[in-house]
Amino acid sequence: MRLDSKQRQRWESDGFLVVPEFVAADACDRLMARAAELLTEFDPATLSIFSTKEQTHTTDEYFLESGDKIRFFVEDGAVDADGRLNRAKELAVNKIGHAQHDLDPVFAHFSHLRAIAELADDLGFTDPRLLQSMYIFKQPEIGGEVVSHQDSTFLYTEPETVVGFWFALEDATVDNGCLWALPGGHRLGLRQRFVRTDTGVAFKVLDDGPPPSGEMVPLEARKGTLVLLHGRLPHRSGPNRSRRSRHAYSVHIIDGTADYPADNWLQRGPDLPLRGFQPIVS
Ligand code: FE2
Repeated sequence: MRLDSKQRQRWESDGFLVVPEFVAADACDRLMARAAELLTEFDPATLSIFSTKEQTHTTDEYFLESGDKIRFFVEDGAVDADGRLNRAKELAVNKIGHAQHDLDPVFAHFSHLRAIAELADDLGFTDPRLLQSMYIFKQPEIGGEVVSHQDSTFLYTEPETVVGFWFALEDATVDNGCLWALPGGHRLGLRQRFVRTDTGVAFKVLDDGPPPSGEMVPLEARKGTLVLLHGRLPHRSGPNRSRRSRHAYSVHIIDGTADYPADNWLQRGPDLPLRGFQPIVS
């Protein structure tokens, strides 16, 4: 899919772009079914075998090693003090990440669709590389809030190149935790980086000035909608207090011509280098 001139203008002025009907309903359904299958491989018993202190350490490692794996993360509200899930894992999981776009054939097929490659081309990527994928459940009643952030904080390159491709697999509304974004906020500076340290991870402050002012707007999105997010755009998503889930899939793309720092939290081993798209022949 190619952007028209109005869409380009909106992208440049807002730092986000909502593209309704980008994904067919049956393609959304296939991703949801595949996520459910992947969940069968998740053994929640592994959550409860560590003491609290070790659990924290182990949780950090589980997260830090997930850049080239398919791993399962659960909602805070779904884990009891003893580390056990208090509900079925299908209703407890927060997200699956962060390399199913390379490791799982169904997610890989979707993530490398020509329509996405064309958009990356339109957005000015020279050598687009798919860095990270997340399947986000935003569970009914316990789906947690994601506080305001810039994606370049987590997926930093020099120069900054990351763009988020966020696909609504179900209707996302204010009630079930849709995205919110600050129009034009992508022109602000990058406030912090999330980096590896000797002991784990930490936020490295780049700009400790006051947080951006201005009102975020809700980006309600019907099933099949694509939302593009500039790496510097402040955005968040609300909690899901409704009884409806809000499944979404996101892929983050960076440019292979930019430097990828060794202290970024997300690292891959040599066996799984970042991939781009098939060349677009038109
Ligand atoms: Fe984000």
